[in-house]
Amino acid sequence: MRHFLKVMDLSPQEVADLIAAAKANKGEHSDVLSGQSLGMIFAKPSTRTRVSFTVGVYELGGHLMFISEREMQLGRGETVEDTARVLSRYLDGVVIRTYSQADLDRYAAASTIPVINGLTDERHPCQALADLMTISELRDDLTNVKVVYLGDGNNVANSLANICAMMGMHIVVCTPPELEQPQWAMDEARELAEKNGGTTEFMTDPAVATRSADFLYTDVWFSMGQQRVPDKQKQLEPYRIDDELLANANPECKVMHCLPAHRGEEIAADVLDGPKSIVLQQAENRLHAQKELLKKLMSDAKA
Ligand code: CP
Ligand code: NVA
Repeated sequence: MRHFLKVMDLSPQEVADLIAAAKANKGEHSDVLSGQSLGMIFAKPSTRTRVSFTVGVYELGGHLMFISEREMQLGRGETVEDTARVLSRYLDGVVIRTYSQADLDRYAAASTIPVINGLTDERHPCQALADLMTISELRDDLTNVKVVYLGDGNNVANSLANICAMMGMHIVVCTPPELEQPQWAMDEARELAEKNGGTTEFMTDPAVATRSADFLYTDVWFSMGQQRVPDKQKQLEPYRIDDELLANANPECKVMHCLPAHRGEEIAADVLDGPKSIVLQQAENRLHAQKELLKKLMSDAKA
């Protein structure tokens, strides 16, 4: 059974094909998921992921059921494995947003239907697909693209680094020394880059990192489930994307954010709302990219 738990669950060629199809099929309404049901089990809030999957399934002729994890027996101690085995008897696919990637991996191991990662503390691979699609709408040759992520070394940074490295791009992840990505995430990105012709850099100086950047990317300083700690806020102040950091970048540089954003924290309001921002294109592309992912995983599983 094929799942999408992390970016590397698709090959570089499959990612390229998926993005090409997402661009070609924007606005498609079909019945490829007719008679199929997708479940969504979310333990954390969501706007984009929830709504884009809901609309995507509708546009492909399928049925969607959203279930908040706390309303399930999971919240009363039913095991992840029993839940996965039972839901596999009703549904044709499931999107899960939860805390630990290990729990998601356990769920997938027991599931006989495709499982899609709708965000964990460690990864956000659906976001990475939409990010790549957005970059590739603006740049034909990905091998010449420098993407710089600034801020907390979190789930979004990990999956962005995966996909950029895998697609042969130049990815720079710039974080405070205390908030760098976990070692496994840096190792993954390095290995993917080596294999696929990309380059990776991990650094702490935002003035150096942003030099000649084609895309500047940031995310919230406090992810879902994290406490707002004043020390962390202080460490991250120099990494805010504002006009000063943007001035170091390529004049054509675009600014990305997975949203939700905190204006005045990780990004200045006039940058997020300004002419270089492509955040709404990114958000829209969640829908287009995920429809192709659903087709690939759910209709392939039936074939
Ligand atoms: N970017 C993203 O995943 O947004 P939501 O948390 O609103 O789904
Ligand atoms: N890093 C953020 C991403 C939200 C889409 C979080 O996990 O809350």
